[in-house]
Amino acid sequence: MHRLTKRFGQVTAVSGLTFESAPGVVTGFLGPNGAGKTTTMRVILGLIAPSSGSARIGGRRYAELPHPAGTVGAVLDHAGFHPARTGRDHLRVYARMGGYPDSRVTEVLDLAGATAYADRRARGLSTGMRQRLKLATALLGDPAVLLLDEPANGLDPAGIAWLRGLLRELAGQAGLERLFLSLTATGGDPR
Ligand SMILES: Nc1ncnc2c1ncn2[C@@H]1O[C@H](COP(=O)(O)OP(=O)(O)OP(=O)(O)O)[C@@H](O)[C@H]1O
Ligand SMILES: [Mg+2]
Repeated sequence: MHRLTKRFGQVTAVSGLTFESAPGVVTGFLGPNGAGKTTTMRVILGLIAPSSGSARIGGRRYAELPHPAGTVGAVLDHAGFHPARTGRDHLRVYARMGGYPDSRVTEVLDLAGATAYADRRARGLSTGMRQRLKLATALLGDPAVLLLDEPANGLDPAGIAWLRGLLRELAGQAGLERLFLSLTATGGDPR
């Protein structure tokens, strides 16, 4: 991230942000509501263009990555599910797009602790259940970089403890180079 600025009309969402996320560690990105965390992630993923400055992943812009889907896994807070589709169907669609076998769907459902309700329609799932399915989606391509926007949202205390362990484990794996997550500052220990 180099001197990244993003303006939406009169609103400056991100102002001159420079930082680097080191390989092999979990980088927490803290700030109160409206601080610009989600905006920064959307710029990193090339979903919106910066007003000035740049965001690079391993030295390249997202659009310049040779295999973006296999390099970066992301969970953004507004990513949705088709209400009539099951979590497993949702994952199968993404698996097909990324060229991953159905067996990988089973694996990531398991990794995310979502197997028990993978065959229920999304409309009936709780916030925490959806959160786990989104995490499973981000893990599909076994990406080197994982970007998670408020990954603990909706998780119960046991779920938060579980997520902490999983993220630490993923960051420790040789395969995952960078893990970047956004957390809303709450005054307490967000992690
Ligand atoms: N598409 C948009 N159009 C106009 N303003 C926007 C847009 N997206 C974000 N903003 C504004 O940019 C600022 C930063 O928003 P952002 O969503 O990045 O904050 P955040 O740190 O993710 O907050 P939260 O903790 O609530 O998720 C806010 O003032 C927001 O209203
Ligand atoms: Mg946000």
